[in-house]
Amino acid sequence: MMSQFKSIEFRNGMFRYLDQTKLPLKEKYIETDDYERIALAIERLEVRGAPAIGISAAYAIALGMKNVTDNYKVSFKKIYDRLAATRPTAVNLFWALDEMENYFSTLNSYENLYGLLLSQAKNIHDDDINKCDKIGENGLEIFNKESVVLTHCNTGRLATGGEGTALSIIKKGFENGKVKFVYSDETRPLLQGSRLTAFELSKSGIPFAINTDSAAAMLMSQNKIDIVITGADRIAVNGDSANKIGTYNLAVLCNYHKIPFYIAAPTSTIDKSCKDGSSINIEERNKSEVTNVNGVKVTRDDYNVYSPAFDVTPNELITGIITEESLHKPPYNF
Ligand code: MRU
Repeated sequence: MMSQFKSIEFRNGMFRYLDQTKLPLKEKYIETDDYERIALAIERLEVRGAPAIGISAAYAIALGMKNVTDNYKVSFKKIYDRLAATRPTAVNLFWALDEMENYFSTLNSYENLYGLLLSQAKNIHDDDINKCDKIGENGLEIFNKESVVLTHCNTGRLATGGEGTALSIIKKGFENGKVKFVYSDETRPLLQGSRLTAFELSKSGIPFAINTDSAAAMLMSQNKIDIVITGADRIAVNGDSANKIGTYNLAVLCNYHKIPFYIAAPTSTIDKSCKDGSSINIEERNKSEVTNVNGVKVTRDDYNVYSPAFDVTPNELITGIITEESLHKPPYNF
């Protein structure tokens, strides 16, 4: 199945991305060769999703170093630090930055530095495209009948360099007659489900409905869901998995209703320095994302807000974790 859009790409010396804050009502592409603009795009969620953030940061490093003519190491560190400060939870960001830094540190000369860093960023991008395809193939074995799937947030072309993680499995499953319908959690507060996953499912011709996050329990109690698949932003060695806020709720609901709950992610989402989920840094976002909907105020500014962007699902609630390597079953030990 061919999808019709590229959410991130590098062409004609520019980083080009689809502004996800405008979707699905407007398909607006932004082109830039300024690393600071890419950092802002990541902070504002114009570009988002763990693997896509990492790839974008890798291109930003190359662009940031393009016109540097001396003090290379100092400039590299400044650009690295700026990008590393954009979002804290998705480890793919730090993984990609470290891949770029490790490569930079092996260079004996800075001749053609921009070209070398750019090809390293393209390698990271190509690698993710391949990983997405393999995740899709490895995920096929989780279906034992033509299934109705529920998913949360967005894990497709908009979130990765390729077809996606959980959404790659859903698309492959649909192509192979193993998925017949998808429920997309709307994913409050930023609506990645009702805006972005709906956009992708619609483009792929997969039948779907958007449901409010709080409708998931009722759907499950009515036997309408066969399987739940989500992505992850950081997976600890013991399998505890951080993903978009509300994922943990789904895993608890699946456990109660005896529905399999799967996580899909590339191995670049595994953080070997996190033994378990307690050491994962959870981003808290600006309260205006909760007090406003689409720029319109819906409650008072002087009310306190608690708005973690991610939660951690304990490994014992996860039926399996699908990576580009294989379907991993518990007990997890990455
Ligand atoms: O805040 P976001 O939209 O960047 O959060 C994204 C998610 O939580 C995704 O599920 C995760 O990054 C996996 S993307 C393949």
